[in-house]
Amino acid sequence: MLKLDFHPAGRHFLQIPGPSPVPDRILRAMSYPTIDHRGPEFGELGLKVLEGIKKIFKTQQPVVIYPASGTGAWEAALSNTLSPGDNVLMFETGHFATLWKKMAESLGLKPEFLGLPGIEGWRRGVQPQMIEERLRADTQHAIRAVCVVHNETSTGVTSDIAAVRRAIDAAGHPALLLVDTISGLACADYRHDEWGVDVTVSGSQKGLMLPPGISFNAISPKAFAASKEARLPRSFWDWTDIVEMNKTGYWPYTPNTNLLYGLNEALEMILGEGLDNVFARHERLAEAARRAVRAWGLEIQCVDPAVYSPVLTGVMMPEGIDADAVRKIIYERFDMSLGTGLGKMKGRMFRIGHLGDCNDLTLLATLAGCEMGLRLAGVPLEESGLPAAMAWLSQPTKASGMKAAA
Ligand SMILES: Cc1ncc(COP(=O)(O)O)c(C=O)c1O
Repeated sequence: MLKLDFHPAGRHFLQIPGPSPVPDRILRAMSYPTIDHRGPEFGELGLKVLEGIKKIFKTQQPVVIYPASGTGAWEAALSNTLSPGDNVLMFETGHFATLWKKMAESLGLKPEFLGLPGIEGWRRGVQPQMIEERLRADTQHAIRAVCVVHNETSTGVTSDIAAVRRAIDAAGHPALLLVDTISGLACADYRHDEWGVDVTVSGSQKGLMLPPGISFNAISPKAFAASKEARLPRSFWDWTDIVEMNKTGYWPYTPNTNLLYGLNEALEMILGEGLDNVFARHERLAEAARRAVRAWGLEIQCVDPAVYSPVLTGVMMPEGIDADAVRKIIYERFDMSLGTGLGKMKGRMFRIGHLGDCNDLTLLATLAGCEMGLRLAGVPLEESGLPAAMAWLSQPTKASGMKAAA
């Protein structure tokens, strides 16, 4: 039986790497009455959020908003730009890259999965030079698209998308660049236009601090042109009518009105704080988390500091410890949810989310919950991680989001 009436004291710590906690301000905005999606007020809201979201993607180009989870926006990116049997080059960064590849297969594409041996790709992210070599070898330009995950949520690795762009250009290859930044957007720097990304896929329930339910495609002119020739079947996902109607702030179907109220509020919050401050806040909290993990004497899943994720930290368990048993103890004793190990990492790691509406004390409480749970599970720790995290967070610099000293 579902225990939906279960309500322990205090608030639940939702420290999975998305959905992230939804701030009260956004919940309140979402509770406004639903309005006529063809009426005049809606058009104003539509235009405002469609314009505002471009700033988050750093693009001047159209961003389509779907009433769907991120998986829908993945399908939209592929089905609008590609044709049955097209070759696509994907990189194995983790579970989500693997799922996107499976989707490509089921849509009738021919994905080629580049990767490092074993779980190395799951610990180091995209290797742009491998993409460059593969594209150089494709002298007939049979590969139509390169698809990569920016922030691999299953591992805690944030790949260098600008370097992937450079690799494609260095190979002189015309393939489209499709990027999933479902969990990276509004947490880590992302530049759709400057990095020459053709389709960027994202979702609502991570850095944007919204509930799950809307997702995005940012579309380059090259991708839009490709959609005119692309023959994969699509109807609901088709960009053409949506982009046309979006010019007036409306959609060809019933959009997710209350989530768009929430998006409007989220944009005010994020742009009010300033994107660079938002990124710096995430970096700072991520560094505190890593310092705690190192003090515990545990291994961080990502082994290349250049691609540490500001969104989440993957914590590897010593041999013989089931990460899910540790998570269960933490959930039951301290009412905190942590991310499970996915795919190849099942049972071997847990993931600490430190994204979105998270601050110094949220993170410290999260780390305390992890530490107590690890001890209860009998995981040998070298020392407490909290002093290391606190020392980092209490350095005399003004943290973003802090109130100015009186
Ligand atoms: C990197 C990444 N890609 C794709 C997805 C799938 O998105 P959704 O679960 O919203 O359909 C997720 C979900 O966590 C993700 O983190």
